[in-house]
Amino acid sequence: MSEARLHRNTGLDLMRVTEATAISAARWMGLGKRDEADHAASVAMLRALNGLEMDGRIVISKDNRADGFSELHTGCAVGTGRGVAVDVVVDPIDGQRLLVQGRSGAVSVAAMAVRGSMWSPSPAAYMEKLVVNRAAAAALVPECLDAPVAWTLALIARAKGKAVRDLVVFLLDRPRHSDLLDEIRAAGSRVMLNDDGDIAGAALAAAPDGPVDLLIGVGGSAEGVIAACAVKALGGGMLARLAPQSDAERQALAATDIDTRRILTCSDLVAGDQIFFVATGITDGLLLDGVGFAHDRASTNSLILRCETRTRRRIHADHLITAV
Ligand code: FBP
Repeated sequence: MSEARLHRNTGLDLMRVTEATAISAARWMGLGKRDEADHAASVAMLRALNGLEMDGRIVISKDNRADGFSELHTGCAVGTGRGVAVDVVVDPIDGQRLLVQGRSGAVSVAAMAVRGSMWSPSPAAYMEKLVVNRAAAAALVPECLDAPVAWTLALIARAKGKAVRDLVVFLLDRPRHSDLLDEIRAAGSRVMLNDDGDIAGAALAAAPDGPVDLLIGVGGSAEGVIAACAVKALGGGMLARLAPQSDAERQALAATDIDTRRILTCSDLVAGDQIFFVATGITDGLLLDGVGFAHDRASTNSLILRCETRTRRRIHADHLITAV
């Protein structure tokens, strides 16, 4: 892997990208126009990324999922082409349905690491994920991916000095999770079922003082790589494994040399510590407040994580809209 280092202000530069994207996306709140919102946010993000002094490459994008977008496709070059060679993963809107239905929890997200650091499981669309914070990271052993969830919950509870019934488990509300949900309920833990948004869910689970003890379940693979950047910068623990959901996805993966049975840790998903993760709220949510508009101004709320120093910054900004 490259010895290149990322400047300490990289996170601030990246935050300007998610701020501009979130402001553009927030105009579509509740309007029911998913494709239009996605296009506007992706164009805004691409324009902002291309203003950054870097030789960037998108390592995996949501275009592997049926509802993915194309402006920021896997392999796309971003940045001015000058400067440090970097891997980039982005999600202009994580929670498109949340945004266009005017519901809480949509965020704009980007992460960056030196070139060669990020794992690219393209053409994989889906990935199983387990995420915990630093206090429970050592309890997350590979067996957790196949063991009954009650066993994993007991390990996490012991590591955190809590009762199993006090734990909060975040999972996406999907038919594929119905047995898992029954198991969690039978074990007695509390559940945070979310319609969308497992990047924010992972950040909440990995935070030292967050409201979630475990994120579990199958979500997007691009979202998994982005989440790994946040989890690593927060010092949390993560296990992942590809989880193809259709014959087409299985066939596409069979044509590659990717081992779909491999269990990955956070460091397998993103190596080293030259990693930045940034998120800006689009609609109000547990992780971040959303964009506010008044007259010619917009306000944004962002989270910047720098892995090398483990710095967590929360930044509230007020923008003259024409200047964004
Ligand atoms: P979108 O905003 O692209 O729809 O993603 C939302 C999301 O909930 C992700 O957070 C998650 O990883 C993924 O969808 C799960 O995929 P699916 O909706 O196909 O189950």
